[in-house]
Amino acid sequence: MDSLRIRGGTPLEGELRPGGSKNATLPILAATLLSSGLVDIRNVPEVRDVTLMLELLDTLGAEIETNGNGRVSINTSEVHKLVAPYDLVRKMRASFLVLGPLLARFGRVEVSLPGGCAIGSRPVDQHLKALRKLGATIDLAQGYVTARCSDRLQGADIEFDVVTVGGTQNVMMAATLADGTTRMKNAAKEPEVVELADCLRSMGALISGDGTDCITVIGQQQLHSGGCTVSADRIEVGTFLAAAAATHGRIRIVDSDPLVLETVLETFRKFGTTINIDGSTIELSASHCELKATDIVTDVYPGIPTDLQAQFLALNCVSSGSSRVIETVFENRFMHVQELVRLGANASLESPTIAVIQGVHELRGATVMATDLRASSSLVIGALVAEGISEINRIYHLDRGYERIEEKLQLLGADVERVSAH
Ligand code: UD1
Repeated sequence: MDSLRIRGGTPLEGELRPGGSKNATLPILAATLLSSGLVDIRNVPEVRDVTLMLELLDTLGAEIETNGNGRVSINTSEVHKLVAPYDLVRKMRASFLVLGPLLARFGRVEVSLPGGCAIGSRPVDQHLKALRKLGATIDLAQGYVTARCSDRLQGADIEFDVVTVGGTQNVMMAATLADGTTRMKNAAKEPEVVELADCLRSMGALISGDGTDCITVIGQQQLHSGGCTVSADRIEVGTFLAAAAATHGRIRIVDSDPLVLETVLETFRKFGTTINIDGSTIELSASHCELKATDIVTDVYPGIPTDLQAQFLALNCVSSGSSRVIETVFENRFMHVQELVRLGANASLESPTIAVIQGVHELRGATVMATDLRASSSLVIGALVAEGISEINRIYHLDRGYERIEEKLQLLGADVERVSAH
């Protein structure tokens, strides 16, 4: 297993062009299963989760062409296998997103239940409840969800009990081929839902209200060829901003979308850093500022994303004063706290969803272990600040969602190398 060796203490300085959004790409890849034509997707990031989703589509019988330059063309007209096996779904929860499209297009599907994961139980009850309302018969047996419908799904009114990004996406995709109109209330407003809707519209879907909590989908007989360009990864942008802030550096991020990061950028200002926005460029400077500890409460969009909670927590570890970080989206997402303590942070858990942090003046290099994707990036931030050498093990978690992270950090002046295990 690869690890990252980081010698901390160098401020990050320079320019970064973020990769395509992983969380936008995964549902769009699943949506190709709805089209009877060719779907052309650009700016697809080369990260492990995307490779896994392509592997799943390949297993189902899709024809996939990649040009190595972030462009992927997918033709699902030959899809014949309607099973998403345990081995793939267990590695990546987002593979559950093939459920809605396969059911809507082929009338039956078997998808392994995702099961528990490192950041909480993450059930799929909302996906299943909504698909039942659309007329699906759903059985759970031997760890698999088997869903069927006679002829087509039927449009229906759906109200989610909790805001779920994946649930909203799964149901929105299913509804595009249903008979009649589906109205979803308490839908997720995340930009990745809007991006999926944009791509579905390019394929002929009739969707409105995406970006609000009430989405309407008018079902079509079939969807045709389409395509889209994936936007910049807002979580990657937030991660590099946090790394630049923590190291008292200065970074310019180009070709991103500051509008979807408004709350995040405002939070960096509260930490005392200077943020300037010019079109699609974001500049953060923390060269001469004293970082001020800042309370963080994660929330659904447009709040502070739970996927940036660990990075802001790491920033609080090296800011002046005390802070609390409250996680409201997942119930068990603080595994990085103990690892940051190994680097010398003064942080502890007040409850499973509340961390308290007292900022310290310095961190010291140590060997730490990545536990999940975003937790891993908080360890990278800690290690970039720490005096001496840190080794971050199990970085396959990082590779799930960050494209060539060590190369990007090196370009910003960090002393970092990937150590491959033999
Ligand atoms: C997506 C993102 C993930 C992000 C999360 C929240 C992708 C591929 N992943 O995950 O990075 O952290 O949104 O922004 O885009 N829940 C239920 N029942 C359900 C579904 C969800 O109770 O049927 C709960 C979950 O346990 C969690 C909350 O709802 O507490 C939010 O989960 P959800 O929005 O569904 O997350 P994902 O779509 O899995």
